[in-house]
Amino acid sequence: MSEKYSIEKVFSNEKIEEGMYKLTIKGKFDVKPGQFYLLRAWDIEPILSRPISIHDKDDDSISFLYNVVGKGTQLLAKLKKEDEIKITGPLGNGFQVDKLKGKVALVAGGIGIAPMLLLAKQLKKEDTDLFVGFRKNSKIVDNVEKYVNNLYLSTENGEKGHKGYVTDILKPENYDVVVCCGPEIMMSKVIKMCEKVGVTSYVSMENRMACGIGACLVCTCKTKDGRKRTCNEGPVFLGEELILND
Ligand SMILES: Cc1cc2nc3c(=O)[nH]c(=O)nc-3n(C[C@H](O)[C@H](O)[C@H](O)COP(=O)(O)OP(=O)(O)OC[C@H]3O[C@@H](n4cnc5c(N)ncnc54)[C@H](O)[C@@H]3O)c2cc1C
Ligand code: FES
Repeated sequence: MSEKYSIEKVFSNEKIEEGMYKLTIKGKFDVKPGQFYLLRAWDIEPILSRPISIHDKDDDSISFLYNVVGKGTQLLAKLKKEDEIKITGPLGNGFQVDKLKGKVALVAGGIGIAPMLLLAKQLKKEDTDLFVGFRKNSKIVDNVEKYVNNLYLSTENGEKGHKGYVTDILKPENYDVVVCCGPEIMMSKVIKMCEKVGVTSYVSMENRMACGIGACLVCTCKTKDGRKRTCNEGPVFLGEELILND
């Protein structure tokens, strides 16, 4: 296994907007887009470390984008420069960038945009479009937009872009491959839309996790080839391989 545990120092923990933070750690990290780390900024409670995708990396830092939803992410949000954070990773398979050939549509729902930044940076800008759906407008889109050719935005409240869901505006038939990360119901719809027009899709699953290293089987998802561990065989799966709930 190439993942490792280390104690790092927080370089910054920027509030992007209400409930959304970007945490940066300095150092050299050998990671792929779509992989994740288990983050821990506490000693005992909550018992489990929290899985968060790699949002961005450069030569001397790595960053994570996260929504505050419960105890663990509330504790992460309190971190300040120089505070200690324990990290284990990189974990999971990540995206195979060399398989994302031709015109690529990146489709993100809400915080599903987190792994898309590093992925977009590694794809050819002129061949990559981003479809993103939020409940309400989010500033984070501005950071990702510069790495893609076209941005198609939807908001459920109609504040910006198309009023409704991102699947209303996605046209998978215009692409060679579609990559999706977001709520399971959205990923299920995207997979079906792609299957209908014969386009390959990859999705990044965000199942609840415990050990994060393939030992406990808490994170399995249903595939045509039996149950697979999201933390180990995933989180990125070929869309047609998965059996998701609608
Ligand atoms: C591989 C992977 C990558 C992830 N990447 C990111 C990321 O980049 N940014 C980000 O903000 N989040 C990401 N998540 C989700 C993140 O791990 C959870 O939001 C976090 O663990 C919640 O911890 P908590 O203690 O704050 O909330 P908890 O108190 O554990 O839960 C609060 C609420 O969030 C729900 N919840 C918890 N975990 C998940 C989950 N995995 N999926 C859906 N709902 C959940 C719970 O059901 C509950 O309603 C990822 C999850 C996985 C498995
Ligand atoms: S979280 Fe334990 S096997 Fe995946």
